[in-house]
Amino acid sequence: MPPALNIVPFVSVDHMMRLVLAVGIERFLTELAGFIEEDFRRWSAFDKTPRIASHSPDGVIELMPTSDGTTYGFKYVNGHPKNVRAGRQTVAAFGVLADVGNGYPMLLTEMTILTALRTAATSALAGKYLAPPGARTMALIGNGAQAEFQALAFRALVGVDRLRLYDIDPAATEKCVRNLAGLGFDLRRCASVAAAVEGAEIVTTVTADRQNATILTDNLVGAGLHINGVGGDCPGKTELHPDVLLRCAIFVEYAPQSRIEGEIQQLPPDHPVTELWEVITGRAPGRRDAGQTTLFDSVGFAVEDFSALRYVREKLRTHPFYADLDLLADPDEPRDLFGMLLRAGAGPGRD
Ligand SMILES: NC(=O)c1ccc[n+]([C@@H]2O[C@H](COP(=O)([O-])OP(=O)(O)OC[C@H]3O[C@@H](n4cnc5c(N)ncnc54)[C@H](O)[C@@H]3O)[C@@H](O)[C@H]2O)c1
Repeated sequence: MPPALNIVPFVSVDHMMRLVLAVGIERFLTELAGFIEEDFRRWSAFDKTPRIASHSPDGVIELMPTSDGTTYGFKYVNGHPKNVRAGRQTVAAFGVLADVGNGYPMLLTEMTILTALRTAATSALAGKYLAPPGARTMALIGNGAQAEFQALAFRALVGVDRLRLYDIDPAATEKCVRNLAGLGFDLRRCASVAAAVEGAEIVTTVTADRQNATILTDNLVGAGLHINGVGGDCPGKTELHPDVLLRCAIFVEYAPQSRIEGEIQQLPPDHPVTELWEVITGRAPGRRDAGQTTLFDSVGFAVEDFSALRYVREKLRTHPFYADLDLLADPDEPRDLFGMLLRAGAGPGRD
């Protein structure tokens, strides 16, 4: 039986959690990073545009579309740092994968959890190419919703097993310690950014604030450090002092979007940066030597979400964690959409 044309597989939050736990979180992150890496290797196949952002005083709502000519994907995502105080997520999302040939959606899924996973997988993928070889210690600054995902991705892909945690809100750090306890990390609560950075080979900044914050100043950044800057992802929302940027070799996802949203919005528009796909394909060097300070200026790009959607669709072949969603009108005669509507009121004999 061919699948009913009205039905689209829908992955709810509950199904996504069951899928991730069935696969295993670190395996999920590793395989997802593999899908992202695969798509970054065929970078030129994708339609690319900076995401479409609707800004307001409290946050942003964004649409992130891309296509490889065969499959189309988009994500709806917000960013509202104040949300946590009202019991909501700072970042919530859902997304769609569709068939370019007929335009029909093939998958509708929650992407709040999936975004945390794909952001962490992308960060760790960049870390695999840019962090000092053998790095084991990471400072994790900002211990909110994304934090544990970053920790697990960096362990799975880079080998990080020592974490130095700092958040302006100690309750967030306690939550993080509670969640990561028993997972094999050496965990250290730190009283300041300076204390967290001390002795770290990688620093992940993943804070949320609706302003140009200065989480890292130049004096805190030693030679050879790899910085994974995740929280600066909107115009007027950055985490690093400009002097830090001037000392780093800077790597981005897609420069036209990063120049609007990333840390590099603080630099002249012609400041040299390298796109991560160039490093992955060997077109450009990654880390040159032990003394080089590297920055992955992450903002989150549509191709990563496309890869995540593609990965989830692939996993649903063997893990049926989805529901059939009656999403698409499907009259017996395609042009008789109105007749289908009329017949719906007539009881038996409906389309
Ligand atoms: N680059 C990407 O692809 C990507 C993807 C998802 C989220 N993000 C961004 O990552 C950030 C974190 O997201 P989240 O969902 O974890 O948010 P969250 O609100 O759950 O957590 C943010 C944490 O940062 C802490 N914080 C704020 N200011 C701080 C400071 N000055 N020093 C230390 N800690 C501070 C808060 O107390 C909070 O615990 C957001 O800015 C979000 O927009 C980026």
